[in-house]
Amino acid sequence: MRILSGIQSSGQFHLGNYYGAIRQWVRLQDEGEALYFIANLHALNTVRDAQRARELTRDAALAMFSLGLDPKRATVFRQSDVPEVAELFWVLGTVVPLANLERAHSYKDKVARGISPDFGLFAYPVLMAADILLYGSDVVPVGKDQVQHVEFARDWATKFNVTYVQGYDPQDPLGTKSGAPGILRLPEARIEEATAVVPGIDGQKMSKSYGNTIDLFGDEKDVKKRIMSIKTDSTPVEAPKPTAEAPLYDLLKLMTPPGEFAAVDQAWRAGGVGYGDFKKRLLDTFHASFGPARARRAELLRDPAELERLLSDGAQRARALAAPIVDAVRRAVGLR
Ligand code: ADP
Ligand code: TRP
Repeated sequence: MRILSGIQSSGQFHLGNYYGAIRQWVRLQDEGEALYFIANLHALNTVRDAQRARELTRDAALAMFSLGLDPKRATVFRQSDVPEVAELFWVLGTVVPLANLERAHSYKDKVARGISPDFGLFAYPVLMAADILLYGSDVVPVGKDQVQHVEFARDWATKFNVTYVQGYDPQDPLGTKSGAPGILRLPEARIEEATAVVPGIDGQKMSKSYGNTIDLFGDEKDVKKRIMSIKTDSTPVEAPKPTAEAPLYDLLKLMTPPGEFAAVDQAWRAGGVGYGDFKKRLLDTFHASFGPARARRAELLRDPAELERLLSDGAQRARALAAPIVDAVRRAVGLR
């Protein structure tokens, strides 16, 4: 089973990214052949400064390796290091119905928010489909917001195969009966239901676009400030605390080791402990959870040559996996 996912290098990694994505990626490394990449081509849609784009790409790599993606068990690479993806993007685009792109959430949501769209934003699902199909991925772990994109990748792979593979039967994509397997493999999304949306310090979904994040690698002072400013209500110290619409409670539940949460939960419901104390507890939990990753990051940051070596090595492996698929695509359409 080939597993693939990517994350845009468009901001600092936060708790939502870890619990919503990277944690599953780490677990999946042992379930199949895993590929994880930094979507720095996608990030160009929002990052329009070269120096910043480079830094964010490096930061994403540092974060991924220090949070537990292991170059021995997974192929970790930069999207732009496999230029074949841009070629597949184009070829695939020639069979993509415009109507699909017009109803893509990523595009519709931004237009609804008044952002005037560029072609890059419009075409973003096609590049994402190329990412997925280029490596013959079977499983794509993503958040709910990305499921539509994986379904597009399936639909377009089918359309490509129907168009270019003689005898291809969409009911039999592996060609078991027809003897005509598709060139592009059909991927499936995998959503981690267990992780609900991670709330930000204001109670909305944690997102860099809302300025409500707790960054995994922020400096200590900033992390503390963020945690201390998590929104709470005016329940007095002695009183039991409400658990609904309480981001502090949700974050404690998410981050406290399972064996220790019962005691926190009891104190929360019993009353007698103030929000300030719960925030300190969350801060301690943050450092217990991410201290080791923060230390690994600091170490890797001191060795840029090693980081570069890991990434080039990942890119080389990814390119080798892509090569036969790119070759088959070129032949099928008549570029070779
Ligand atoms: P942001 O919302 O900060 O821009 P991205 O959209 O770049 O984050 O998300 C990257 C990955 O992290 C995606 O897989 C997404 O599902 C996951 N993710 C981001 N924020 C959250 C959150 N608050 N809760 C759960 N998962 C999240
Ligand atoms: N669009 C994804 C996001 O914003 C990132 C991404 C790009 C991706 N290409 C991908 C995810 C391919 C999975 C597979 O989160």
